Amino acid sequence: EKGNHAHFMQKEIFEQPIVVAQTLQSYLRPLEEQVALPDMAFDLAGFDRISIVACGTSSYVAMIGKYWIEQFARVPVEVDVASEFRYRDPVLTENQLALFISQSGETADTLAALKHCKRAGVKTAGIINVPTSSMAREVDLLLSTHAGPEIGVASTKAFTCQLAVMAAFATNLARAKGKLSPEEEREIVRHLSEAPEAMNAALGHDEDIAGMAGTIAEARDVLYLGRGIDYPMALEGALKLKEISYIHAEGYASGEMKHGPIALIDDAVPLIVIAPSGPLFEKTVSNMQEAQARGAKVVLISDAEGIGRAGQGTIATIEMPKVHPLIAPLVYAIPVQLLAYHVAVAKGTDVDQPRNLAKSVTVE
Ligand code: M6R
Repeated sequence: EKGNHAHFMQKEIFEQPIVVAQTLQSYLRPLEEQVALPDMAFDLAGFDRISIVACGTSSYVAMIGKYWIEQFARVPVEVDVASEFRYRDPVLTENQLALFISQSGETADTLAALKHCKRAGVKTAGIINVPTSSMAREVDLLLSTHAGPEIGVASTKAFTCQLAVMAAFATNLARAKGKLSPEEEREIVRHLSEAPEAMNAALGHDEDIAGMAGTIAEARDVLYLGRGIDYPMALEGALKLKEISYIHAEGYASGEMKHGPIALIDDAVPLIVIAPSGPLFEKTVSNMQEAQARGAKVVLISDAEGIGRAGQGTIATIEMPKVHPLIAPLVYAIPVQLLAYHVAVAKGTDVDQPRNLAKSVTVE
């Protein structure tokens, strides 16, 4: 079933351009140059607040969704990990949509949070990969991802498919709220349609990334930095690395470095910096350079422009194609996943079934 691949995780990383294209097919109408969601029994324009609830990797899609929805639709979003949401007695209101994200559709905490919202009369939607799952049956609006079965415990293709659906959802909401012109929507549809090709280009760096994995595999701790939507990407990078390679890793918002984490920096702590060129680039680079001045070994993931401006003094760079911010996380996820994968292979861990973890967490 793994075909030519050594592990399910590797197969699932490489499947991403295809399954993201499949997922986008149900949310894009290229002829009308519009984004489309399935029919729903309520009007999205009626919601003034959105709560997004998920666990683990799915919760990073929630965080990226917050940036997109607030930026494009100007609707305030709160994000919670499901285990916190349930027990903090959240304020639930009628003008609120509760959006749940889950690959399995069976995660106990997320399912309980969903049931809690339904009991309170809150409208619910779910970005879910398993169409027959408990959550898929419970939500008022099912937004399916079409990633196919994900076997590796580390979530990869479900993550990028969830991002594709989140981008479509944010765009649709922005239109419903009157915040998006037809020209802007056309642009977004065009960029989203280009995502699978850009993801293929990112996969082309597999060998370079395998080549640098040995250095990272020797580290005891690894830090990931990003700003804006790349902050949740940094969290995802760190989670992926710790779960399959057992190396301690943390993701930080770059601006937070000087508030504590920079104390950890020395030449034994590699720093993975996720920074496409753009308005936030210089700020992230200045945080990166502060760390470099303290001996940090930096791997910079950026585009040609970013690498041209800040690649000097790094131990390695990984060059991504230049892409629209709405598809950047789909593309930048790939080097982040490949790095974790190759480090785990270098360490000889059980990539598909890491110790102490289950694919689907059905108990609290
Ligand atoms: O099936 P779900 O999306 O609800 O699962 C949530 C988390 O358990 C999951 O993303 C977990 O963090 C992965 N092992 C991460 O790779």
